[in-house]
Amino acid sequence: MSMNVVTLLYLVASVCFIQALKGLSHPTTSIRGNLFGMTGMLIAVLTTAALIVQLAGGAVLGLGWVLLGLLVGGTAGTLMAQRVEMTRMPELVAFMHSMIGLAAVFIAVAAVAEPWAFGITAAPVAAVVGARTPGGAVLLEGMVMPAIPYGNRLELFLGAAIGAITFSGSVIAFGKLSGKYKFRLFQGAPVQFAGQHWLNLALGLLTVGLGLMFVATESWTAFFAMLALAFAMGVLIIIPIGGADMPVVVSMLNSYSGWAAAGIGFSLNNSMLIIAGSLVGSSGGILSYIMCKAMNRSFFNVLLGGFGGAVASGEGGAKEQRPVKSGSADDAAFVLSNAETVVIVPGYGLAVARAQHAVKELAQKLTDKGITVKYAIHPVAGRMPGHMNVLLAEAEVPYDQVFEMDEINSEFGQTDVAIILGANDVVNPAAQTKGSPIYGMPILEAYKAKTVIVNKRSMASGYAGLDNELFYMDKTMMVFGDAKKVVEDMVKAIE
Ligand code: TAP
Repeated sequence: MSMNVVTLLYLVASVCFIQALKGLSHPTTSIRGNLFGMTGMLIAVLTTAALIVQLAGGAVLGLGWVLLGLLVGGTAGTLMAQRVEMTRMPELVAFMHSMIGLAAVFIAVAAVAEPWAFGITAAPVAAVVGARTPGGAVLLEGMVMPAIPYGNRLELFLGAAIGAITFSGSVIAFGKLSGKYKFRLFQGAPVQFAGQHWLNLALGLLTVGLGLMFVATESWTAFFAMLALAFAMGVLIIIPIGGADMPVVVSMLNSYSGWAAAGIGFSLNNSMLIIAGSLVGSSGGILSYIMCKAMNRSFFNVLLGGFGGAVASGEGGAKEQRPVKSGSADDAAFVLSNAETVVIVPGYGLAVARAQHAVKELAQKLTDKGITVKYAIHPVAGRMPGHMNVLLAEAEVPYDQVFEMDEINSEFGQTDVAIILGANDVVNPAAQTKGSPIYGMPILEAYKAKTVIVNKRSMASGYAGLDNELFYMDKTMMVFGDAKKVVEDMVKAIE
């Protein structure tokens, strides 16, 4: 296979990746997007495998290792994807990123150890022991090891450092998201101490200094010291962030892992890795930015770490002992049946209760009665981007009933009933009050509907740990209970 064919195939794979991102930007085209992504990855993997055989001069030894890696990695990935619950997706993604980061580190270490094996330098040649070579070449037991070009050293340093930060940061993010481990650094509560940011800054500068020393001297000591510090930095950047903020961190680490791969791609002169890495890096960065905006966070604070302190995070936090109007599922069904327009607002509680199929049934019954039903999706409802879209798609809710926040907010004023299922912060009017910790966060303006029905299990607060004025409004009826049970009861109660 000529290099022209390889380049052409990599180009086809890259176009597939771009089409995949385009497709994934809307639920109606997301399946097509996924298919493009899978096709692109298949082309990239097969082309790379063929290239390895060619570089090995037809020897199958190298290919055997590659196939073994594909088999083990592919099987593990398939099993994990099949078993993961929707609410556990962010953890899985964090785990995957940690693997990408570690892969970047391994490739960088291997490339520094044997640069000729990656085509970075010519093969070592025999020489007289003790002979000196120009350009910093190292002499080892009678072999002249050609020096790695400065540009490649810089790329390897960057790829390895970003990969190491991504790996250890993702491991901490994984632990915090799972909430299952006793280890203090894996607990949801932020770990903060005096001078934390100064320490991070000092470590950052030291890492860059050691990296530049490696670039200048090709010193293994500087390279490994730089790597050790980068691993430590990954931990230190993520520990001050609260567990519930982890999805934003995961998206940011996603971006880092892409840049690490791109950096390694430059070293290996692999255009596929550069393009795929840059796509992941930039799309992850854009997603982090969108999430930060929707959660009213500063993007730069996220990038620098330790941004989670502003909001008193933690579910089941503040409660207020004020009277609320509450009703049964039957009462809610009666109100819904007498409406002309209904907007359903799904939130994290709907995902926890796995009530999406029951909700679809409810919407179907209302639609059959001639009632207009729409779903309103907040960009950060749930615990990961697109959480609610995926949930509703799983229940095969028609896409034309699903509306994004900007599309539907102007309609709440003319809506008869807004029914909020397991959502809290994303409909909290406090976001429009100056001084509130969530001031500025865009919300679904469900409070403007003529009647509001809220289903949740208790008066406990949501992720932001804040009370919600919407629950105490005269036009609001609280229906307490697990979302699945409550919605199923509503479905039964509607004639
Ligand atoms: P939340 O504000 O967390 O509210 C969810 C509500 O669901 C809780 O108040 C809880 O109240 C209720 N609930 C839990 N289990 C339930 C069940 N089985 N049945 C019925 N209700 C149940 O969720 P939201 O409104 O979707 O807002 C998302 C929040 O997460 C935002 O603050 C957002 O900033 C944050 N966040 C989102 C993301 C992304 S990317 N989506 C990332 C990080 C953080 P009870 O306990 O009383 O039932």
